[in-house]
Amino acid sequence: MIGTDAKVFVAGHRGMVGSAIVRALLARSVHPVTISRGECDLTDREAVDTFFARERPTHVFLAAAKVGGILANDTQGADFIRENLMIQTNVIDAAYRLGAQKLLFLGSSCIYPKHAEQPMREDCLLTGPLEPTNLPYAIAKIAGATMCDAYRRQYGFDAFTVMPSNVYGIGDNFDPQASHVVAGLMRRFHEAKLKAEPEVVAWGSGSPMRELVDADDLADACVFLMENYSEGGLINAGTSQEISIKALTELMAEVTGYEGRITWDLSKPDGTPRKIMENSRLHALGWQPKTTIRAGLEKMYAWFQETDGKRPAA
Ligand SMILES: NC(=O)c1ccc[n+]([C@@H]2O[C@H](COP(=O)([O-])OP(=O)(O)OC[C@H]3O[C@@H](n4cnc5c(N)ncnc54)[C@H](OP(=O)(O)O)[C@@H]3O)[C@@H](O)[C@H]2O)c1
Repeated sequence: MIGTDAKVFVAGHRGMVGSAIVRALLARSVHPVTISRGECDLTDREAVDTFFARERPTHVFLAAAKVGGILANDTQGADFIRENLMIQTNVIDAAYRLGAQKLLFLGSSCIYPKHAEQPMREDCLLTGPLEPTNLPYAIAKIAGATMCDAYRRQYGFDAFTVMPSNVYGIGDNFDPQASHVVAGLMRRFHEAKLKAEPEVVAWGSGSPMRELVDADDLADACVFLMENYSEGGLINAGTSQEISIKALTELMAEVTGYEGRITWDLSKPDGTPRKIMENSRLHALGWQPKTTIRAGLEKMYAWFQETDGKRPAA
């Protein structure tokens, strides 16, 4: 358990995952410390050291990162590798030097090899070539995971890496330049409903299979692992709930109340046929997801309608 004497820091508390971790902690009556980017840019080593020296957190959730979709990754590779390396290095190193007991680093399933055997096991990392479109992001994340392991081996620091699959939910990014598949589809169907468009054209055949995890479920898994896992290395945090893009698209039309037609543009590429993680290590520890995809999408759409997909101000 995270004890009453613990001081918990959530880095990236305004983000989708970080804000869900804050909610999960508050639900357990743990009140985490947070700091806005304006007060402490995590790429600034001096600012990070000053913050850690002042607050002395005992447990750190590192959910701050530069995150984006294919276009952003493709056009801003330099920013992705520089900012992520700096954030991770500053936070992991300050946490160790300034007395934290434990740190959870958020990795990502997209750092596994492009042609990894499915479902992807933790030990497939670095066994094959990576997806070229997000190479700078993936290399930075692999460096962060390696840094956690190296600090554990050399200094005995209890740091480890959690590997989520496709996360969606409250606080998701709806920016058309940066959004992932779920938020992109939600905005598309919402706008088609408002404009009473007779048809939504979806890309490809809809056959690819994806694993989705609701941000609140992922946050619950992160808090569970902070309390129950100390082995280091990587641990996959997926749901093993697979859905085809076609079924997801149809479900999205239902959830948003869109009543027009969905047609499939077969001239557009499908992408990887199947991407799913092997989650038996996490599930064997006693954690299971609580949210069905339908329930997760309904919760996310309610939040989207309330906020227009905008996060609260910093
Ligand atoms: N979303 C997914 O599907 C997914 C999948 C797998 C893994 N992950 C991992 O989960 C973690 C969180 O992702 P997310 O989806 O929650 O991302 P997100 O919504 O974009 O949130 C990222 C957070 O990091 C903060 N941040 C970025 N640069 C910063 C800086 N220089 N100084 C201070 N704060 C900074 C942002 O602050 P501002 O609010 O000020 O911008 C934001 O709060 C990431 O490590 C990501 O790789 C996400």
